[in-house]
Order: sequence, then C-alpha cells, then structure tokens
Amino acid sequence: MSRLIVVSNRVQAPSADSSGAQGGLAVALTAALREHDGIWFGWSGEAGETRDMRFETYGGVTSATIDLSEQDIEEYYEGYANRTLWPLFHYRLGLTEFERDFQGGYERVNRTFGEIISPHIQPDDLVWVHDYHMIPLGWVLRQQGLTNRIGFFLHIPWPPTRLLVALPQHRRLVEAMFAYDVIGFQTEEWLGSFHHYVTHEMGGSLGENGAVTVGGRTIRAIACPIGIDAEEFVAATGRSEAVATHRRMIESSIGRSLIVGVDRLDYSKGIEERFNGYQRFLESRPDARANVYLLQIAPPSRSSVQSYRDIRAQLDALSGRINGAYADLDWVPLRYVNQGFPRDVLAGVYRAARIGLVTPLRDGMNLVAKEYVAAQDPDDPGVLILSRFAGAAAQLDQALLVNPYSADDIADAIEHALTMPREERIARWRPLFENVREHDVIWWRNRFIDELSAVSVA
Ligand code: F6P
Repeated sequence: MSRLIVVSNRVQAPSADSSGAQGGLAVALTAALREHDGIWFGWSGEAGETRDMRFETYGGVTSATIDLSEQDIEEYYEGYANRTLWPLFHYRLGLTEFERDFQGGYERVNRTFGEIISPHIQPDDLVWVHDYHMIPLGWVLRQQGLTNRIGFFLHIPWPPTRLLVALPQHRRLVEAMFAYDVIGFQTEEWLGSFHHYVTHEMGGSLGENGAVTVGGRTIRAIACPIGIDAEEFVAATGRSEAVATHRRMIESSIGRSLIVGVDRLDYSKGIEERFNGYQRFLESRPDARANVYLLQIAPPSRSSVQSYRDIRAQLDALSGRINGAYADLDWVPLRYVNQGFPRDVLAGVYRAARIGLVTPLRDGMNLVAKEYVAAQDPDDPGVLILSRFAGAAAQLDQALLVNPYSADDIADAIEHALTMPREERIARWRPLFENVREHDVIWWRNRFIDELSAVSVA
C-alpha cells in the first residue's frame, strides 16, 4: 500500500500538547495517515528564521512542520492567502488586495515548501495537497522531479471566471494546477466555474469522467463535498459534557427558543447580515420577541488582517445596539460570545437549539450546518436555516434555504422555523441526517484517495 503524504498550511495532526479533541478533517486525515503510514507537512504556525523541519510522531501519526519568517507570514499567509485569494474566492472583489509582494511571497513560500518536502517523498507515495495556500505546490514538486500521483483539494469556493480574471497572473495560477493528477472541489458549482475558466481562458477541453485537457496535459477534476465525522458527532451528543451543556442551555433559556450561530469571525460568514435579519424579526414580531434569543459564538480569527479587525468592530457595535434597543430587565435578545468551545460542548448547544442559523454570504461547504443536523434529537429535531450560498446547500436542500443578504428572508425563515410543527421538523430532518451520515468525512477522504490511486503513472 502506498504511503499518504498530506500537505496543508495548518497541520492538525495529534500532538503531545493538543487537547485530543480534533476537528473532523483532522480525524479523517490522521486516520488515513495512520493506516497509510504517512506524514502531514505544513507550517508550524510560528515565526522563525531557520528552515529546519521538526518531526513529531504522536498517536501513530507523523507531522513535519517548518517555521516561516516574519516576511513570509506577512506576504504569503496574511497577504496573498488571506488578503488576496480568500476575499476573491469568496466573491469579495472590493476587499481583495493586489500586491506584487504578496504574490512573490506566496510563490517563494510554496517553492520553499516544495524544496524542503520533496526529499522526504518516496517514489510510490500518494501526495495530497490542501487548500488555497498551496495551489502551486504540485507544480513545485514536479520541478523537483517528482512523478508521484499528486492530488489537490480546494476547501473554499472557486470563483466565476469574471472574478478570477481580476487576479493579476490568474493564468499562471491555474496553469500550475495542471501539475496535479486530480483536483477536487466542494460542489458541482465550483467545478463548473473551473471548467468555464479552463475552456474560455485556456482553450482547454472537457472529456469523460472528469477529464480536463489543456495543451497536452489531461487531469481529472471532480466535485467531492467534504463531510463531518458524523458517527463521532452523534456519539458526542451522548457524552457527559454535551449532556451537561444541553441542560445548562435549557435552564438558562427559561422556556425561550434558542437560535444558534457558530462561526469563525470572518466577513464571509454573513454574521452582520444575520444580526440584521434577527433584528428585523425582533422589530416586526414584537409579540414573539421575548420567546427567543440568539446565541452567536464567534471566535476571532486572522486578527492581524485589517478587514477582520473591521468586521469585529462592526459586530461589537451592532450586537450592542441590538441589545440596547430590545433587551428587557430579565432578557437579552443576543448573546454574542467571542470564544471557541470544544466539540462536546458545541454538540450540547446545537442539540438545545430550536434553530441552527447558518447564513454565510459564500462558503466552500460549511460544516457547522452538518454538525447541527447530526446533533439533533431524532424525535424532536430543530430546524436548520441555511444560506443558499453555502456549498452545503447543494446537499442539504430540506433545510430552510435563505438569501443571507436579505433581512426579510432571514426574519421570515426564523418565524417559519419557530412555528413549524414537529412532524414537519422530523420530515425535513431525516433526509438531512441521512445525507450527513452517508457523505461523511470518511466517505469524502476515501472518494478522493480512490480517485488519486486510480491514476496511472507513466
Ligand atoms: O477552510 C478554510 C481555512 O482557511 C482552512 O484552511 C483553515 O484551517 C481555516 O480556514 C482557518 O483559517 P486559518 O488557518 O487562517 O486560521
């Protein structure tokens, strides 16, 4: 059996000092790495001037990380990844910054990664590169002489051609992707946008079984939606911390319906628009006001980037205004919490929530939507309100799908969910849960690895 080599910006392999509660992606990949005796490469998350690779083996999985210099972090991670590609790929041209230094830093860091990693790759290894930080890495590895099967999975959306062409050197970026053997996207929609770019901008052609050809090179491009570790998430809802949290939420809500939102604090998550929608609900249904409250959990992220500091300040102000306008002596309409919680605690919160409010303006997938579904009580499930612009909406279409930009749409969906009879909630939830359970993270991982393994190498 071939070894599996995973490369991503953040390495989430288990380590001696991690708490043990890994995210779904980390669980799926570490299980595969354990089975395939593999290595997970990436950035340590630290600044440092040496390029020494630090190997750590824990729980049967080896991780190998390097530090990046301050300049690399600024230009590659904060710059090109998070101030150029992230906003552009989330359709936010107005927030996208185009700096030559960022692109230079991005290419430099990808080159460095490729040069440092390639000596550790054996001829038969499967190499799986993840996400927008590392798009050109496959090309660098080919330059280093690697003929292995190399795959790439994009966790975020792929933008429409009209937006992508705003990126200076867009063609160079896409050309580099043809160094991979298999490219995975979250949805058919993003795959379609990729096809459009390749056929309209590069003179490429599409063939059978996902084949995409440009010049003399044919690769496979597939839609392969990521899932959660559903079985583990269902198990989490029965564990003591989840049960205690569930009780705590029910007691603190004194008969009111909990609406929950859980997101990394990011402008793409539509939290501001969600608050506006909730405010519209409070304003237009005064009689329903005191029967609900919204708990928004939003751990801050990427706070060295100005647009993230801006959204944080806007949300601080807006949450204050909503509570100032509507709170009563014994009720606050909005609990806004800037910290993250372990999975078992979240499982208890989700189960206590009558509504899961997941309204990103654009999202590659959105695993919170799937976690919310997995955590529900089958006999009395809550209602998922989901943005039609989340990748997850392509699979979870029994949710109440909303336009996240429309305050009226969100307000109407909240009302619909609050008044939905139990039979309808169950009828909507069952197929949602089936989908989450069947297309879980293990399904996703196996599907991609099978595609990659099936590639014949010269
Ligand atoms: O899903 C997109 C993503 O950028 C992941 O690659 C990343 O691990 C996560 O969001 C959190 O972002 P960051 O690594 O920048 O904190």
